[in-house]
Amino acid sequence: MKITVNPKLETGSLGDLFGIFFEDINHAADGGLYAELLQNRSFEFCELDNPGYHGLTGWEKIIPGDITCSVSVQTGNPVSSKNPHYLVIDACEPSEGVGVRNCGYNSGIPLEAGKHYELSFYTACDGRLQTVEAALENMDGEIYESRIFQITSREWVMLSTEFIAPVTNYSARLSIKLKSAGRVYFDLVSLFPIDTFRNRKNGMRVDIAKLLEDMKPKFMRFPGGCLIHDGSLNQSDRDSMYRWKNTIGPLKDRPSRRNNWNYNQTLGLGYYEYFQLCEDIGAKPLPVLPGGCDPHHRRAVPLKQLEEWIQDALDLIEFANGSENTVWGAKRAELGHREPFHLKYIAIGNEEVGDDFFERYSFFQKAIKEKYPHIKIINSAGPAVSGSAYDTGWKSAVENGSELIDEHYYQAPEWFIANHHHYDSYRKRKTKVFLGEYASKGNSWYNALAEASYMIGLERNAEGVGLACYAPMLCNAGYVDWKPNLIWFDNHRAFGTPNYYVQKLFMNNQGDFGLKVDIETDMKSEALPDKMGKKIYFAPNLRNADSRVEIKNIEIIKEEGLVRCPDILVDSAADPIFIGEAEGSYRIKFHAKRISGGLGFALWFNFMDEQNKRRVEY
Ligand code: AHR
Repeated sequence: MKITVNPKLETGSLGDLFGIFFEDINHAADGGLYAELLQNRSFEFCELDNPGYHGLTGWEKIIPGDITCSVSVQTGNPVSSKNPHYLVIDACEPSEGVGVRNCGYNSGIPLEAGKHYELSFYTACDGRLQTVEAALENMDGEIYESRIFQITSREWVMLSTEFIAPVTNYSARLSIKLKSAGRVYFDLVSLFPIDTFRNRKNGMRVDIAKLLEDMKPKFMRFPGGCLIHDGSLNQSDRDSMYRWKNTIGPLKDRPSRRNNWNYNQTLGLGYYEYFQLCEDIGAKPLPVLPGGCDPHHRRAVPLKQLEEWIQDALDLIEFANGSENTVWGAKRAELGHREPFHLKYIAIGNEEVGDDFFERYSFFQKAIKEKYPHIKIINSAGPAVSGSAYDTGWKSAVENGSELIDEHYYQAPEWFIANHHHYDSYRKRKTKVFLGEYASKGNSWYNALAEASYMIGLERNAEGVGLACYAPMLCNAGYVDWKPNLIWFDNHRAFGTPNYYVQKLFMNNQGDFGLKVDIETDMKSEALPDKMGKKIYFAPNLRNADSRVEIKNIEIIKEEGLVRCPDILVDSAADPIFIGEAEGSYRIKFHAKRISGGLGFALWFNFMDEQNKRRVEY
């Protein structure tokens, strides 16, 4: 094969082409990237999240047999009205300990010898002096390290301590036990490693975040996915859609929510943390906001109440980019980030289809553009690669002047290979494609290779494709909602798939522009089905209107000898061209040279069975 790179430009700027997409699916956040080690730290898990959940999911009760005692989850006087449940431990006499033990995720809490961990919790009691022991244990209840707390306050107070793990154990437990007679309350019990990615408080797990950083993504789409639009329309409902204002500020005031992937989402990883992470890994933030419609439950906010949702979008832009003199810019500064986060993109909706969404989208587009003309707004083309819903999305994008439109598809690897030229005809469109979710179905090298082939097509068509990111990105192997995924992990290990290394390769080596490339190649095909007809045609699959390929030195190599065929010139409009005859097994050899058109080309051999009028692509 001979590849000639010409100095002539083939594409426009590749811009921010390759990035990543984070969604809290497969326990990607809680039990994943978000470094919190305890599960159900606020006792908020409930049946709404998952039919099997209850307030003590993730915890085991420790009840000694010889005293009257109880361990329960109650409401009535919470630390924060946003998280109404808390733990109550009662004991009628002093004991070795009545309480609970948290089992973390996967096999337990991963401790590493010599590493530091911060335990913190809110607590209150009945006003009498109470003795509480918190301990790191193994799964048989043997204590590694413990701390005693004396509690007297009737009001909630926050206490904390630091442990140093004496051993490495990936199946450890944290226990909290009341040792005196009386009643003690607990809420927001957290065990956090002191080492987080870039040492951020309330930060990310180092190994997973490092894998993200290593890719060098140009942008990060977050926080979903279907997760953003599945929920009620009322921001203060337990089952609210993903509303960004619920996710910032003190952890106790972030209402944990039903994650539509059948678990509970604490929102400990919230918008401030997302922006911070983007900055830390050098990716531009690309938030996705619900557009006031839940397509899963077919509900849409009445138009006269849409203002609040649009205001959320405007406030988010101010939160990210506004100066400290603005209301939301001041909140960002208060949280610890005085400099802006340089938000450039915002997406409204995820996979929405239907008039309800597009009617509402127009109001978002107009309001955002009026106040922030430089923000690029992303419309939605639904979960398809073509069809009427897809066309409606594109119509809305064109009519509204959306800069980008979000396309999603998950296909067989063969589809990605065969559709290498999918975007060749999109180059002149004013609205660019944001390929916000795509994956070939599998994590094998073959899948990765198919995606690589497709990504070359994305690069070549960067004038039509502005942004692209694989989905989903993270999966805790113990909590699988979706396959394939880019990175798999458990409570202490994280691995990139072959697909990950392809994404990394493209991101690490993303250029600024594409140059014109000529390819001369030898292609071989062997052992063709001998039942097919005798006539062999070239029916090239050249999608570019101006594509022309010269095919020379064609040889049909049979057992009995070799047949040379005349050179041919094919273009995108050509009918199949007859090149010769053969039967049984044979090989075809040729040189193909692109004369004009896209950077790459695919050739399909079509074999005509004249009797049955069948046409077989090879
Ligand atoms: O990536 C997984 C899911 O696929 C996303 O949440 C959704 O947008 C799509 O259907």
